[in-house]
Amino acid sequence: MRTQVAIIGAGPSGLLLGQILSRAGISTLILERQSADHVLGRIRAGVLEQGTIDLLEAAGVGQRLQRQGLVHGGFELLFKGARHRIDLQALTGGRQVMVYGQTELTRDLMEARAAAGQPSVYQASELSIHDFAGQQPRVRYVSQGRQHELACDFIAGCDGFHGVCRASVPRGAITEYEKVYPFGWLGLLADVPPVSPELIYANTERGFALCSMRSTSRARYYLQCPLTDTLSQWTDQAFWAELKNRLDPQAREQLITGPAIEKGIAPLRSFVAEPMRFGRLFLAGDAAHIVPPTGAKGLNLAASDINYLSAALREFYQDSSSAGIDSYSARCLRRVWRAERFSWWFTSLMHQFPEAGGFGQKLQEAELDYLVHSSAAATALAENYVGLPLD
Ligand code: APR
Ligand code: PHB
Repeated sequence: MRTQVAIIGAGPSGLLLGQILSRAGISTLILERQSADHVLGRIRAGVLEQGTIDLLEAAGVGQRLQRQGLVHGGFELLFKGARHRIDLQALTGGRQVMVYGQTELTRDLMEARAAAGQPSVYQASELSIHDFAGQQPRVRYVSQGRQHELACDFIAGCDGFHGVCRASVPRGAITEYEKVYPFGWLGLLADVPPVSPELIYANTERGFALCSMRSTSRARYYLQCPLTDTLSQWTDQAFWAELKNRLDPQAREQLITGPAIEKGIAPLRSFVAEPMRFGRLFLAGDAAHIVPPTGAKGLNLAASDINYLSAALREFYQDSSSAGIDSYSARCLRRVWRAERFSWWFTSLMHQFPEAGGFGQKLQEAELDYLVHSSAAATALAENYVGLPLD
């Protein structure tokens, strides 16, 4: 079996790369460990930067997004019991973001791939990658009880943080930078109208809270919680009571509660692996980097990696040039580190850190006060939130 680009992982990174390459006439095979239903069952953030939307439209998967996505021209910061609006549009010369769940985007990409007749293997197990330091990489995997070997020109490691691709790079060829945060996010999804038409990011002495949404009838809420908490401690009732505790009086009154349709606790991590290319293996998306979810940069960074990688591969096949391949890692990492910095900063500003104490809380409140009253500071927040340019 042979393909031009073997794509490992059918998350947003792998599926978007497959979609763009397929439209450029480059053959791909996507190999995914889980079933398609399992992949579609994962609930993740859903705020798209304009650059991500442009990329999805150019890839031919923008139709449902344009119909169903919610355009947001601002969001609110809640601290010391009061809400303050960050007017993204006014601060960035008209730029906005779109709220559209990653699950929906994944579904659109899977449907587009099926419609284009491009092959994917789900439930591919025991996957291993070989010879990517040379000219003829290979991928071995087991599907339906049979061993397969795939020959290819390139391997795209789009297999997420726990994937096999980054782990296959020889030790010493990779440097990892990591910060683990001393708390998690407890998320709850419910079919209730969102408390407010825009997102609310709340800094409180009880911990961070976020009011988000998936649609006008489906709300997504998060609470900062200790990593030692378990889901059994967090009944729906306990969740709603604590969320109310972290909101302002008006939001508390307007909050509509209902049964959770999903609940989970996720740890927060900042992580970057450098470089993002080893011979004919490329890492993209969560396989190469993780940001904490504050600011929702994870999916947007995955999209920007795929923008650079798809352009590099098109250049290789269409113009016989390796220039894009050679500059892939450095181009990605420049944008990755700027998003890492923003996500770390926004996380640090909004959460309770066990060691920070009262002094830390006062500093956060002073910085938030400065942010909402200084157009210079608010502009820096807004331009990062809507997304730095893809250059
Ligand atoms: N073999 C095949 N597939 C694998 C393997 C393996 N050994 N290991 C992992 N995978 C698959 C996972 O099952 C998953 O479907 O790779 C896929 C990786 O997908 P994601 O984790 O969604 O990563 P990515 O596509 O880079 O998407 C980044 O996801 O986590 C969010 O914030 C992040 O929104 C961002 C986006
Ligand atoms: C979400 O809706 O899941 C979400 C939104 C914004 C964030 C993080 C998560 O910053």
